[in-house]
Amino acid sequence: MRPQNNILLSKVLLGCYANGFSNLISGSQILRGFNETAKLGFSAMSGDNLGSQPRSPLRNYQVVVAATREMGIGKDGKLPWRLPSDLKFFKELTVTTSDPHKKNVVVMGRKTWESIPLENRPLPGRLNVVLTCSRSSDITTGENVVICGSIPSALELLADVPYCFSTEKVFVIGGGQIFRETLNAPGCEAIHITEIETRFECDTFIPFIDLSCFQPWYTSKLLVENDVRFSFATYVRVRSGVTACPSNTKAKSTTGSPNCNNFEVKDFTFLPRMILERHDELITK
Ligand SMILES: NC(=O)c1ccc[n+]([C@@H]2O[C@H](COP(=O)([O-])OP(=O)(O)OC[C@H]3O[C@@H](n4cnc5c(N)ncnc54)[C@H](OP(=O)(O)O)[C@@H]3O)[C@@H](O)[C@H]2O)c1
Repeated sequence: MRPQNNILLSKVLLGCYANGFSNLISGSQILRGFNETAKLGFSAMSGDNLGSQPRSPLRNYQVVVAATREMGIGKDGKLPWRLPSDLKFFKELTVTTSDPHKKNVVVMGRKTWESIPLENRPLPGRLNVVLTCSRSSDITTGENVVICGSIPSALELLADVPYCFSTEKVFVIGGGQIFRETLNAPGCEAIHITEIETRFECDTFIPFIDLSCFQPWYTSKLLVENDVRFSFATYVRVRSGVTACPSNTKAKSTTGSPNCNNFEVKDFTFLPRMILERHDELITK
């Protein structure tokens, strides 16, 4: 086993401590899954189509976020805007599965978890993975709540049994600290962003989308609700790594029709069906 594999394994064993975790997955199961996948290298794969394929040590994921032009996402531990249609979109996107026997996963930081009203958490119909570095956190775990100590350990846990079979798509849903680590990272296959055009004061910001790796898949028309102007957009990863193109380019300045000849990635079936079918709605603002 290579040294970095050892480090990852330690992170899994030390980093994941779900309530009743030993009932779900044992250390030897992790080890077995890890050994299998370690031999196969570190190529990431989509959460779908895991059935007969060799498992990857890290699950890929999609980011769901609402952000201003300046990439502001929060203020005083809350969302700065009230957009019921965005919450509806978020729910539909993250709950819907193509296999009725599977659930999707939402991965979030401890502060985002705490920002969800008690009566609404865990987010129903989804496996909630909460990230915290604190071993003594008072997060109430249960059947649909897993606590992990790092992002790699969470993605590794989700790549292994039982979650690789019982879950379909993995959505990273915030907040700022978690997006800063995941937004443009190699495992991020797509970014579903609600682009808030109205100005809001924010105290939590995330990086701009790296347009050397991501291209728009679709952009909705401009919508207005509660005096807030916004649109829905999805960006897909078209290149596996950073190229010579300038990185951290402002996403909103280049919305336009993607040139498929420039795509390294050709298969976008990892996208949720409701997004996959919207490719024709790509609108140049
Ligand atoms: N607009 C949007 O789409 C959106 C979405 C979600 C949230 N938000 C907003 O974002 C704000 C919250 O964001 P935030 O940055 O303050 O907090 P956050 O990212 O939700 O949570 C931060 C906490 O997560 C844990 N954490 C962070 N990185 C970790 C890692 N690598 N490994 C393990 N645990 C890790 C730590 O918990 P411990 O301190 O317990 O160790 C840390 O204090 C709120 O205003 C919320 O409303 C906006």
